[in-house]
Amino acid sequence: MIEFDDVSLAYPGQDADHGANRGANRGGDTRQGVRVNARPAIDRVSFSIASGAFTFLTGRSGAGKSSLLKLIAGLERPSSGEIRVNGASYSRLKPRKLPALRRQMGLIFQDNQLLSDRSVFDNVALPLIIGRFGHADIQRRVPAALERVGLAAHAAANPTTLSGGEQQRVGIARALVARPRLLLADEPTGNLDAGMSQEIMDLLLDFNAAGVTVLLATHDTGLLDGHDLPRLTLADGRLVSPDPASAGRTARARTPGRPARSTRRAPARRKD
Ligand SMILES: Nc1ncnc2c1ncn2[C@@H]1O[C@H](COP(=O)(O)OP(=O)(O)OP(=O)(O)O)[C@@H](O)[C@H]1O
Ligand SMILES: [Mg+2]
Repeated sequence: MIEFDDVSLAYPGQDADHGANRGANRGGDTRQGVRVNARPAIDRVSFSIASGAFTFLTGRSGAGKSSLLKLIAGLERPSSGEIRVNGASYSRLKPRKLPALRRQMGLIFQDNQLLSDRSVFDNVALPLIIGRFGHADIQRRVPAALERVGLAAHAAANPTTLSGGEQQRVGIARALVARPRLLLADEPTGNLDAGMSQEIMDLLLDFNAAGVTVLLATHDTGLLDGHDLPRLTLADGRLVSPDPASAGRTARARTPGRPARSTRRAPARRKD
């Protein structure tokens, strides 16, 4: 469902070809007293993730987790390499087709990006309005999504009046209200206590059990404990696990047959 083939992403000031000079200048250097961050944010990364899987994306701060999720979401374009999502090749995709692909994805942002000038209900309704859903659909789906994350009573509230965990759950409801096939979650438990983090993790596992493919970026190693789920690990923009060398040209975060899962639940896989 998600395939990366030798993908690099260099932001302005980063060197897309830095991989070719690896070792000589890894991690940037100092030119005329100015630090130059030469390495690309994503450096020749290859992997594939099967539909229905729940995969962790780990790595230290600055490793490239958010950048990788932005590439999948089409919010950044790769400097080189090929990305395919649901069989659609991004390099061959006409720009006008990107919104339709994006509608198959739900995004939970690292900083949750709720709009403080409107209610919780209106925040969650946004993807439906952008997706041109009808009024009746919106009136039905938004309360259902808020109910799902335990916030039905807060529909009329301004998000700034909610706790951090509640705001994060509004972000989850917004990501899932249009029933995406793929959920990209960027540090959804950042700044939350352990109990609340586990609640959010359980919520994401529930959605995965209902057939949603989940890619969860986190550096919260406590979140990984007790979950026998596949991981992609980045370090300085490179995929260091699974080991690309041992997996041949393409490192696969693949779950053979059924997705590897927590022992708590049996997955109901969706065909897509
Ligand atoms: N918009 C940008 N412009 C320039 N450089 C960027 C931009 N976004 C990220 N970077 C750089 O790319 C690298 C990877 O950043 P990224 O945000 O993907 O890391 P991360 O693993 O998500 O980190 P964190 O755990 O802190 O969220 C870093 O060196 C960062 O400074
Ligand atoms: Mg990040």
